[in-house]
Amino acid sequence: MSEPSPSLDRTAVADIRPPPRHLAIIMDGNGRWAKARGLPRAMGHREGVEALRRTVDAAAALGIAHLTVFSFSTENWNRPQAEIDALFDLLRMFVKRDLAQLHRDGVRIRIIGSRHGLSPDILELIDEAVSLTRNNTRLTLNIAFNYGGRGEIVAAAQSLARAVQNGEMKPEDIDEKAVSRLLWTSESPDPDLVIRTSGELRLSNFLLWSGAYSELMFMDIWWPDFNREWMEKAIDAFRCRDRRFGGLGV
Ligand code: FPP
Repeated sequence: MSEPSPSLDRTAVADIRPPPRHLAIIMDGNGRWAKARGLPRAMGHREGVEALRRTVDAAAALGIAHLTVFSFSTENWNRPQAEIDALFDLLRMFVKRDLAQLHRDGVRIRIIGSRHGLSPDILELIDEAVSLTRNNTRLTLNIAFNYGGRGEIVAAAQSLARAVQNGEMKPEDIDEKAVSRLLWTSESPDPDLVIRTSGELRLSNFLLWSGAYSELMFMDIWWPDFNREWMEKAIDAFRCRDRRFGGLGV
């Protein structure tokens, strides 16, 4: 991880700072994890689901209230069809296999992204999961599936344009709050921390609006290796960051 180890003084400061309320993760490196082991890429994604399962448990245990994970981007349609099919199958597997336990654990599932291009059985499955878990309060799990940050902003802009056209609002009523309210992520606060695994240093169209003031952390591990220990390291480092939101801080 590209983060200096906290000094003793900074650790003392970190102890009194809360963990992120909303953690977002770009789960990258499944393919390289598989390649390093001579396995097909789909095996890397399968291990990625296991890492996701561990991550949900760790987040709930560590007091994180919102977790958003990037599972399939609108740009991932450019991958070979077999890999796209594998990712869709893994979403089916994740929801079917883990839904009952996630529900018992108080996890509220939300799927963020475009419904366009998703097959009817996937839509039915995710609608069921969202509806079953809608009143859970321990952890909100936003699964970004068929998600793109620019597309999210465009969809909000179209809704606002329609509202103006119908006379429901004036152009000057459009402010940042009005846009935020229409985003797919509107039921969660802005992410405090965005982690990307695999060592790549970019956002790849993830949470472009809500992540405007997120702390970013890039970890030199592949996603299937992520676990509670790595999450704790990231949270410790986050607690040492000074967040100023464009001001001078305290
Ligand atoms: C990036 O790794 C990861 C993805 C494109 C998909 C992430 C998906 C999962 C962790 C599993 C699916 C989970 C659900 C709930 C559907 P990569 O393939 O780009 O890896 P590489 O950069 O090493 O090739």
